[in-house]
Amino acid sequence: MIKDVQEQILRLKKQTDTCILAHSYMSEEICEVADFVGDSYALSVKAKSAPQKNILMCGVRFMAETVKMLSPQKRVTLANPAAGCPMAEQMERGLIEQVKSSYPDYAVVAYINTTAELKTIADVCVTSSSAVKICRAMPEKNILFIPDINLGTYVKNQVPEKNFKLLSGGCPTHARVGREEAVAAKAAHPDALFLVHPECRPEVVALADYAGSTAGIAQYAEQSDAREFIIGTDNSIVQHLQYRHPEKKFYPLSKDLVCHNMRITTLTDVLHCLKGCGGEEIVMDEDTRLKAVKCIERMIKYGG
Ligand code: 13P
Ligand code: SF4
Repeated sequence: MIKDVQEQILRLKKQTDTCILAHSYMSEEICEVADFVGDSYALSVKAKSAPQKNILMCGVRFMAETVKMLSPQKRVTLANPAAGCPMAEQMERGLIEQVKSSYPDYAVVAYINTTAELKTIADVCVTSSSAVKICRAMPEKNILFIPDINLGTYVKNQVPEKNFKLLSGGCPTHARVGREEAVAAKAAHPDALFLVHPECRPEVVALADYAGSTAGIAQYAEQSDAREFIIGTDNSIVQHLQYRHPEKKFYPLSKDLVCHNMRITTLTDVLHCLKGCGGEEIVMDEDTRLKAVKCIERMIKYGG
């Protein structure tokens, strides 16, 4: 059944001139039919250069919005409209404007996991793979980092030459894991390297051999000579890596590391979107787009 649906998808995406983008957390069967699989940064860059006139995003809403900002002439569809990111929707624009007024000499650095509305008041956007590089490269010395306090703390530690103000937002999935669970995972697999996403709590990141984006974690594990790895991000990455590298062993940091929003999109959703009976077209007013895209373009300029 899966093969049959995949064949239909491959045929329909050509017929409808559609580029399928899949975030690294998508299921193996979706990744297999995608034109590109990657982390948030790579997806936003890729979407800009894709020749197709339609983009189907298999991921969460802020990712589809980012694609629309960069490619307004394209028809961008979010494969499953229920796929949101709780972190992206955590902070209201009014709150950030209030904080900004208390720190007028601070540049607002927004994690890409934010709504389009929040991006309209950000000076620059960052992803987990580009945050350190961009915060170092941007000329501003004072940075108000929103919304993820864990990623913000990680960047702050890597860029001690700048001043950071952090707010207390974050990813409910990654924040679920505490130090004790990380210590227990390391004790259970003493020969494994520990790879984490910087959305994890600082006390968990402190125990890691490597911290990086979803794509960074996968690349590190694939290129390493080590044979065993504890993976500190959504458990889909454990599954992908184990599938591609049966000669190595991959262990989840926690069975609770599952982003349910990323699990919502199915292969059937992809098929239905291509048949024109599913998904949600991203519509954005031009004023919001023009204001929000500036921080994405600055991200690409500093992060490339
Ligand atoms: P990446 O930038 O690593 O793809 O992260 C996106 C995300 O939402 C991780 O939880
Ligand atoms: Fe958002 Fe966290 Fe899910 Fe990533 S893992 S999409 S940050 S809720």
